[in-house]
Amino acid sequence: MTVEPALEAVDLKVSFGAIKALDGVSLRVDAGQILSVIGPNGAGKSSLLNCLSGVYRPHSGRVLFHGRDITALAPHRRAALGVARTFQGIQSYASMTVRQNILAGFHCRMKTGLLDALLYWPRAQREEREFSARAEEIIEFLELEELRHTLVGELGYGLRKRVDLGRALALGPSVLVLDEPMAGMSVEEKADLARFVLDIRAAHNTPVILVEHDMEVVMDISDQVLVMEWGRAIALGAPAEVRIDARVINAYLGAEEP
Ligand SMILES: Nc1ncnc2c1ncn2[C@@H]1O[C@H](COP(=O)(O)OP(=O)(O)OP(=O)(O)O)[C@@H](O)[C@H]1O
Ligand SMILES: [Mg+2]
Repeated sequence: MTVEPALEAVDLKVSFGAIKALDGVSLRVDAGQILSVIGPNGAGKSSLLNCLSGVYRPHSGRVLFHGRDITALAPHRRAALGVARTFQGIQSYASMTVRQNILAGFHCRMKTGLLDALLYWPRAQREEREFSARAEEIIEFLELEELRHTLVGELGYGLRKRVDLGRALALGPSVLVLDEPMAGMSVEEKADLARFVLDIRAAHNTPVILVEHDMEVVMDISDQVLVMEWGRAIALGAPAEVRIDARVINAYLGAEEP
């Protein structure tokens, strides 16, 4: 029996007017794999992630989740399946505490609506207790204990990105899709975040797709690296292969600052 990849994209195409944001990109991740997407600004990395999570509908091509075609599924339906993502930039609510933000991440898993809450009060309470305990686990996992009651707006950028990850973890993801989770972070914060990603993978075998510009981190934690340029994949392979690919060196690594 063949095992279907956890998440697969087949020949995705997306255009905005004359711009081909994605011009036939494919990838697959299996359980326990970390795939990094790299490439210059405007290469189509976020567009690719948007197709995976359902924010963009590709003009052609397919997205498969464990072999099931989810190309037409709305983002919240994909999230309910366990496709969790964070966005480039900050997603957490500044005026809420760390704990409240992570609790808000559970919202799409809650079975109890308002009417249910009135009719089935015990169930609503049970659900709340369960989410509360799980939020606490995430807080501990991400080493945010001392900040659990701090307003997110008072945190630095790196910690806010960590809270964003916590919100994605609240989904109990079966695939994690992270758009520049380490952008704007200090070297130490990046190392912490890389460690959390590796720990998530170790604990749950969760495949992770992430966009990252820091080549050292990418080469360090990835099983596969997808290199994009102008909406196309110019290389896909293990870090050691990609690093010596002539097109990659020309297009991207060569353009890196010394
Ligand atoms: N919603 C949109 N409307 C119009 N153009 C878009 C939209 N989304 C992406 N594009 C265009 O598609 C191209 C790819 O953009 P995308 O955001 O996917 O790149 P990226 O690789 O994530 O870049 P960055 O590293 O700057 O985040 C760019 O030319 C961008 O301007
Ligand atoms: Mg982007």
